[in-house]
Amino acid sequence: MFVYAHRGASALAPENTLIAFRKAIDLGTKGIELDVQLSRDGVVMVMHDDTLDRTTNGKGRLEKFSLEELKKLDSGVWFNKSFCDEKIPTLEDVIKILPENIKLNIEFKPDKKNTVKIAQEVYKILEKYKNFNNIIISSFYHQSLLEYRKLDENIPMGMLFEYDIVNMFEYIKNTGINPVSINISSEYVDEKLVEEAHLNNLKVAVYTVNSYDIAMNLKKIGVDEIFSNYPDIIS
Ligand code: G3P
Ligand code: MG
Repeated sequence: MFVYAHRGASALAPENTLIAFRKAIDLGTKGIELDVQLSRDGVVMVMHDDTLDRTTNGKGRLEKFSLEELKKLDSGVWFNKSFCDEKIPTLEDVIKILPENIKLNIEFKPDKKNTVKIAQEVYKILEKYKNFNNIIISSFYHQSLLEYRKLDENIPMGMLFEYDIVNMFEYIKNTGINPVSINISSEYVDEKLVEEAHLNNLKVAVYTVNSYDIAMNLKKIGVDEIFSNYPDIIS
């Protein structure tokens, strides 16, 4: 079973920061998951929440700030004082430090008014770092996936779901997104769902799994991938 370091090694370092990604790499991770959204001036920033309050010393919505303003903030101290040098990274900052063989799962945060813009900006970055080609795009906001699909018909995509929706596999087919996986919360996965996904040629990726026992159970029922704050959870 493949393990993504969820927001980096986010149990050990502040989530979605370069140090969290470096730690995951040091622990031998083969995959990294991160979240992206746009700054006011259209730069692809790596952060989970749409507000700065929880993971930085700033306040307010990230989209209201420019890259220059965002780079002045601290994004480590909230986790532990020893991480006081951390800044919010851009997607490009992260790609620059990742070994080329790492599988990178880029999760687009829902943003209706920037759906086209963020797709274009991420596409530009991925075109620039063409050697870095082990990428998967994912989102709960399927409009975002559809928009990106217009730019790249081949890139693998994961469709995120909070739970198992009615007629899930019909819905997926009808979107035209053509994902490689369903990415779903651990509470809503069982053997039947995994079987059905596999029959539909879809992998099952499960978030967020921080317990060894749960990870092993998911492995037993055939889950293909998990997202964990402990990248070495089952190694
Ligand atoms: O992509 C898996 C997982 O990261 C989805 O939830 O809220 O942690 O981004 P969230
Ligand atoms: Mg995420």
